[in-house]
Amino acid sequence: MSETSRICSWKIAFALDNPIRRLIHNPQNILGGYIKAGQTVLDLGCGPGTFSVAMAEMVGESGKVIAVDVQEEMLKLVREKAARQGLQARIVTHKVGPGGIGLSEKVDFALAFYMVHEVPDAEAFLKEVASLLKPRGKLLIVEPKMHVSEDDFEKTVEVARRAGLKIVSEPRVRLSRSKLFQLGSG
Ligand SMILES: C[S@@+](CC[C@H](N)C(=O)[O-])C[C@H]1O[C@@H](n2cnc3c(N)ncnc32)[C@H](O)[C@@H]1O
Repeated sequence: MSETSRICSWKIAFALDNPIRRLIHNPQNILGGYIKAGQTVLDLGCGPGTFSVAMAEMVGESGKVIAVDVQEEMLKLVREKAARQGLQARIVTHKVGPGGIGLSEKVDFALAFYMVHEVPDAEAFLKEVASLLKPRGKLLIVEPKMHVSEDDFEKTVEVARRAGLKIVSEPRVRLSRSKLFQLGSG
């Protein structure tokens, strides 16, 4: 599979951001327990911003969301959606380059929703994500059951462990496999 063919195109962004999706994957239900006001959080592979914009509500006026994607078109959709909801001041968009994510700011929480299976080098990617977490910062990885087998998800979990992340819990997310990790804790 080529590197671009595995990526979910911005042309089908509507499939990721619509009322039915938000009913199935309600951002508040999934993330509300992990994100607090004032935090800096990262939405990796943000797509059209279903989670980024909800995360911006959760971090409040003093918090910040960094929405990251490889597709500039997706980031544009996030900016437009944030502006429509008056949340643009809390969201920064960042395009991933060929050498990796390329951020230096540390975050309290990172989300990788339905995106790790699209990343060609998960090992390098998760190492970089771990380096961006504050001490005891958390990472939630959610993968679609439809595209990611139990075995493949376990491989991702192993890669995350090698990056220094420890499993905290296995939150239930509809139609998905998921694990919550924390940097440097049992
Ligand atoms: C299936 S979509 C999921 C979007 C969003 N997380 C959601 O659940 O609505 C996967 C997204 O990950 C992005 N992506 C793929 N590889 C990436 C990488 N290496 N770094 C950042 N984003 C990536 C794609 O461009 C796409 O927007």
